[in-house]
This record gives sequence, structure tokens and C-alpha cells, in this order.
Amino acid sequence: MLGIETSCDETSAAVVIDNDGAWTIGSNIVASQVAIHREWGGVVPELASRQHIRDICGVVRTALETANTDLKEIDAIAVTQGPGLVGSLLVGVSFAKSLALSLDRPLVAVHHLAGHIESLFLQGGDLPLPLVALVVSGGHTSLYVVRERGSYIRIGRTRDDAAGEAYDKVAKLLGLGYPGGPIVDKRAREGNDDAIALPSTRMTHADRNAPAVKGDLDFSFSGLKTAVLRHVRQRTENRGRLTDAEINDVCASFQRVVVTALLDRIFEAADRYGAASVGIAGGVSANARLRKDFAERAARLGFPAYVPALSLSTDNAAMIAAAGLRNFHAGKRAALDLNADASLEL
Ligand code: KG4
Ligand code: ZN
Repeated sequence: MLGIETSCDETSAAVVIDNDGAWTIGSNIVASQVAIHREWGGVVPELASRQHIRDICGVVRTALETANTDLKEIDAIAVTQGPGLVGSLLVGVSFAKSLALSLDRPLVAVHHLAGHIESLFLQGGDLPLPLVALVVSGGHTSLYVVRERGSYIRIGRTRDDAAGEAYDKVAKLLGLGYPGGPIVDKRAREGNDDAIALPSTRMTHADRNAPAVKGDLDFSFSGLKTAVLRHVRQRTENRGRLTDAEINDVCASFQRVVVTALLDRIFEAADRYGAASVGIAGGVSANARLRKDFAERAARLGFPAYVPALSLSTDNAAMIAAAGLRNFHAGKRAALDLNADASLEL
């Protein structure tokens, strides 16, 4: 399976081989645009789609070469249909459709978040089900229960900012640059996580927009972000710029609240849904403290816990090829009128 991912600011292509149900990664090539967007403090959609066009041919060629294969040997093509930036998605979708048409091979559409969840299976094989999985990225913070392979039931989500978005915004207001997650993660290691009292939000009511869902497994991070902003403003007005040590303390205190909120909900859901295993996927799963605390808490509570390798945490096409294989075996095929969908639901 050749996978193609262009939903945000990474152009990626990968080959995943299915040997009688055992999936192996032949290649997973990622061309990151971080250096381009850093200058603007965030992803600029127009620049992203143009860069995808420049990169996609070379990235696909390198993915095939690295896997020691060529286009003739590819059995099917999987592509991210959404959600994401529509201009970026369209580059991958158009490219994949052209390949499928010219090679006369099946095309499989993939939901980006299903890809993140499948990164857990790609790495861990047949995980014990039901699995409670948190997908936590720059655009999403959603909890799913997977009772059978390929079926994802959403049981919680963020009402406002995604956790990765909160990291990026906090990094920006501290003047730490883009993307914020890895920098805050690093600075937090040097700080005191108790230094600043920051609020954590606990949802108790159903969401007005989704009243049928109980909503008590939902997340909210915009209040926390505002509290950090208020703290930094007050502190700056009183005594000028924050010292490096103070910035480290803000990062550590912010991170403690985020990690605790994420883990509290995962293990609550795990109890409620009788989980046989728990997992975290998506860009924020690269976070060192989240990985450490997750492993410790899961061991204490007796749940097998899974996180993807770092190369499978942030956006990549191997996870898209894996989710593509899942759909392919379920008989799902996309037609050549497939369109990108920026707000595709899962
Ligand atoms: O999954 P991903 O690569 O792209 C999306 O689908 O959004 O996630 C990117 C997000 C960014 O917000 C980034 O700041 C965050 O993941 N991130 C991290 C870390 N590495 C990436 N957040 C916290 N700690 C990290 N080490
Ligand atoms: Zn992602």
C-alpha cells in the first residue's frame, strides 16, 4: 500500500507491506515545512499547499526507492481525504487520484484521525480490544473507543482549543517560536511544575452543539491558555520580562495541567468502557512527560499502554497507509470523483 499524507504542513509518502496480516513499514518519508512556516509564527495555508506541490513527486519517488520497490508493484493507493487544510489536502488527493487512474489501481480514502489511531496498530500489532485511544494533535483532542478493528466511536472531544494548539499558543506568548509543543516540552524539564497555580477545566454538562452526548469526557484548554496569558501579562507589567527560569516554570506548570487533564479522561473512559488496553496517538503523544506519566499510571492501574514511536506520532504517511489497508480489507474503495473534505468527521 502506498500512503500519501498532505493534510497540514508535512508532505509524506510511505509504503506499508501486508504479509498475511502482519504489517511492516517499507518506508516513511516526511518533508517538513516547519522552517517555512516558523517565520510567520504558524502555518500559512497558501504557502503550505504550494510547497506540497513542489515536494510531492520527490517524496513519493523517495518512498518507493527506500522501500526497494516501484510503482508497478504497488497494489493500492491510500490518501488522506480530511480533515485538514483544504488546499493542502487537495494536492494529495489529486496526486493519488492521478496515480490510481494511470496505474489502474484501487484508491482508498483515509480519515486523518483514523490514521493516527492506526499508528498504534501498525506499531503494536493486534492490540487487546476494546482499546480506549486518545488522538491529540494540533487540530484535535478526541477520545475514541475501538471495540473492533477499523471501527472508531468518539466518546469525548475538546470544546475549544486542541491540546497541541494550546502548546503552540502558549509558546507564542512566551516568545518561544513555532511549533510550540517540542519547545515547551523541553523547557518544562528544567522548570518547577508547581510554581504557578493554573486552573484545569472539568466538563460536567453536555455540549450545546452535541446534546445527545453526555459530554463529561470532553476537554477544554482555552481557559488554561488565557490563565497563562494573564499570568505572563501581570508578571511583565510588574517586573518586566520573564527570566529564563520563570519561563521554564510557566512551561512546566502549564504542561502539568494539560497532561493531567488528558490522562484523567483516558483512564476514566478506560474504566467506563471496560478497556483491555489504552493508547495515545497524534503529535502531542511525542511529549516526554505525557509518555512517562501515561506509562506509569497505566502500569499502576493494570492497563497495557501503547504510544507510537516518535516517527509515527507526528503527521506521517505510514499511518495513512495502515488505515488504508484497514479500509481496503473492509472492501472500501474511493471513486475518482473523491474530493478533499476539510472538516471530515470521525
Ligand atoms: O499530529 P500532528 O503532527 O499534526 C496535526 O494533525 O495537527 O500534531 C502537531 C501538534 C502541534 O501542535 C505540536 O506543537 C504538537 O503536535 N507537538 C507536541 C510535541 N511535539 C509536537 N506537543 C507537546 N509536546 C511535544 N513534544
Ligand atoms: Zn495529525
